[in-house]
Amino acid sequence: MSVFPENFLWGGATAANQFEGAYNVDGKGLSVQDVTPDGGFGRVTEEPTPDNLKLEGIDFYHRYKEDIALFAEMGFKVFRLSIAWSRIFPKGDETEPNEAGLQFYDDVFDELAKYGIEPLVTLSHYETPLHLAREYNGWANRKLIDFYARYVRTVFTRYKDKVKYWLTFNEINSLFSLPFISGGIATPKEELSESDLYQAAHHELVASALATKIGHEINPDFQIGCMVLAMPAYPMTAHPLDQLAARDYENHNYLFSDIHARGEYPGYAKRYFKEHGIEIEFAEGDRELLKEHTVDFISFSYYMSVAAAHNPEDYTSGKGNILGGLSNPYLEASEWGWQIDPVGLRLVLNDFYDRYQLPLFIVENGLGAKDQLVDGPDGPTVEDDYRIDYLNQHLYQVGEAIKDGVDVMGYTTWGCIDLVSASTAELSKRYGFIYVDRNDDGEGTLSRYKKHSFDWYKEVIETNGGSLQAPDA
Ligand code: BG6
Repeated sequence: MSVFPENFLWGGATAANQFEGAYNVDGKGLSVQDVTPDGGFGRVTEEPTPDNLKLEGIDFYHRYKEDIALFAEMGFKVFRLSIAWSRIFPKGDETEPNEAGLQFYDDVFDELAKYGIEPLVTLSHYETPLHLAREYNGWANRKLIDFYARYVRTVFTRYKDKVKYWLTFNEINSLFSLPFISGGIATPKEELSESDLYQAAHHELVASALATKIGHEINPDFQIGCMVLAMPAYPMTAHPLDQLAARDYENHNYLFSDIHARGEYPGYAKRYFKEHGIEIEFAEGDRELLKEHTVDFISFSYYMSVAAAHNPEDYTSGKGNILGGLSNPYLEASEWGWQIDPVGLRLVLNDFYDRYQLPLFIVENGLGAKDQLVDGPDGPTVEDDYRIDYLNQHLYQVGEAIKDGVDVMGYTTWGCIDLVSASTAELSKRYGFIYVDRNDDGEGTLSRYKKHSFDWYKEVIETNGGSLQAPDA
């Protein structure tokens, strides 16, 4: 018996810079990704050269027909991809777009339409044009709002009949951890004050509201959402101060969904700013924009949870997705130290829904693992039962949240086809249902092979979640 709504959007998620390849083809400009060969936390180089070239995706740019056919075979209803801003405006501050870039996404959307797959498009997924980072210091500069507005107006207009679901910024709350990748801010992180970062975040929040306004003017049927990195923090003990520490941790993230959903800075943030000498400059009209152009839905990534304590020095810090936090002794971790917590997903869904009563979209979730290609009866495959187990457990909890009364629109697994890791630039950290023959040195045929999880997910979609198994008690 399925508990998922009939029109539930099942699918997979990707980002241009992690899977398209063709980083300098057909007029595309460089983005911040092209100068971070070791991943989001690594060094920033001057220009890409043969010696420091980042591992270039999996060539979706030339193989999109083959890949989309595989997504269709699994029964995808939705496919999340980002538009590489620097394919459309190579430097970011031009007045005219690059037609070849626009045509590429037209072709991709047409191909998706052939199979009835809805595109879900992230407008900015860690790929600010490099020129905007170098010349303007990225989102630290208010001028970025105008450049972004021109870009989103261009793509909203061009694809107004082809794309309905849009996300304004990927994991907008990651700006504090990754100012260069997330915000295109060239100033080294250690030289940025908290005020600088909150001001840059304000620019993104205003730009997000402006995009929502422009989008709804161009097509009132557009569904425009924000996208946050969700990571629940559990109090380490029942000590009231640990409870407060967990709340403070979560508020730092809620700030972004609160503003997107409620249209104003919350009281806890105003208090924090006051006590920390942070003054955000509002331009005329900012308050009204935020208030009047809130989002249609909330989307988020979910990989793991953390713990928080008022005395963090007494505990071990965990590894994890961008934000960090304390290790939870009750949870196991992936090979990269990300603590696996399916129940946390049910909690996140309930918390967001209680807070906003807006539809929710899980747009990233998955297990990065080292896969082994083996011979199977139908050719090479991967016996990725560990991935099936991870996804089954998480999806089971999505079902539980739906039974709790939460309105969930859809679910897209991260990296439905193997792609390059955002944090480490490895291809060997694989998430996909489809194995891509390429290693961390860029060697391989780029051939695609179905993993065991491919047929498993196909059945999940076919049965609208009815085939999911309850976890062992
Ligand atoms: C999210 C990002 O933080 O996590 C993706 O939105 C990223 O771009 C994903 O790839 C998984 O992280 P990683 O570092 O394993 O690629």
